[in-house]
Amino acid sequence: MTGPRTLGEALDDAEKTLAGAGAWDPRRDAETLAAHVLGRPAADLPPGTALDPDARDRFQALVRRRAARTPLEYLTGRAFLGGIEIEVGPGVFVPRKHTEPLLAWGLDVLEGVRDPVVADLCAGSAAIALAVAHARPDAVVHAVELDPEALRWARRNMARRAAAGDTPIRLHEGDVTAPGLLSGLDGRLDLLLANPPFVVEGRVLPPEWEEHQPRPALFSGHDGLVVIRAITAAAARLLRPGGGVAIEHDDEQAPAVMALLAEQEVFTGIAFHTDHNDLPRYTTARRI
Ligand SMILES: C[S@@+](CC[C@H](N)C(=O)[O-])C[C@H]1O[C@@H](n2cnc3c(N)ncnc32)[C@H](O)[C@@H]1O
Repeated sequence: MTGPRTLGEALDDAEKTLAGAGAWDPRRDAETLAAHVLGRPAADLPPGTALDPDARDRFQALVRRRAARTPLEYLTGRAFLGGIEIEVGPGVFVPRKHTEPLLAWGLDVLEGVRDPVVADLCAGSAAIALAVAHARPDAVVHAVELDPEALRWARRNMARRAAAGDTPIRLHEGDVTAPGLLSGLDGRLDLLLANPPFVVEGRVLPPEWEEHQPRPALFSGHDGLVVIRAITAAAARLLRPGGGVAIEHDDEQAPAVMALLAEQEVFTGIAFHTDHNDLPRYTTARRI
């Protein structure tokens, strides 16, 4: 048998390959892929474990794809948000841990609100909407998404979560910049959450995004704010007095997003918040 004989050797080889390819957390990637191949938790990978040739070949094939900067989650087929597993693959944006604080903020807003009405704009895989529905079975959660491929993943995740016993969400195929967006809900939302596209058109991103993830999930016009601008107006119209809005953005966009919310002249407590890297990541406000 050629190549590594033990799990430890295979992980060390993979870590070197991935570090050379520019992956930013090569050991974690290698362990995640090994855990995926072996069907065991990443915390349970004894280095002395003998690797059979089939597992070794499958692991090395995945490492090669990761070295080509395929998103890790496309290789394992899953991502996590709010404690639930979301299926992902080519055609849909991979939910990021950067979004966890926005979700937590939103759930705090719903504390003490019975039967809340919530919207997740630019839903992608529906991760945020499904995480809210999981945490709050009494909520009516609307999710809006434009891209047919993303909608396919959202429907798949909706079916899985409903089968797991969560309250079904309501998925709308539509453009969040359309003037009549969710118009039946004017003044009724308790919470509006959005992780929209916010990258300035023309900016070059790491290959995981640039080469693999759908462009409508990333880019939003010359200033990166085209979709966010529309969402601030929608939030002004859709939220009830006291309702909360949280919008994820680039770490440089907090002042611009705060200004867009202020322009609506119906929000109070406009503030930005940081993520796990201590970078400005989302801005929130309450409807007057
Ligand atoms: C950054 S991804 C976020 C997906 C998901 N919310 C998450 O956090 O994983 C943005 C999503 O917005 C969708 N999108 C972009 N422009 C849109 C628009 N005008 N109306 C509705 N959805 C849009 C994209 O297709 C993509 O799925």
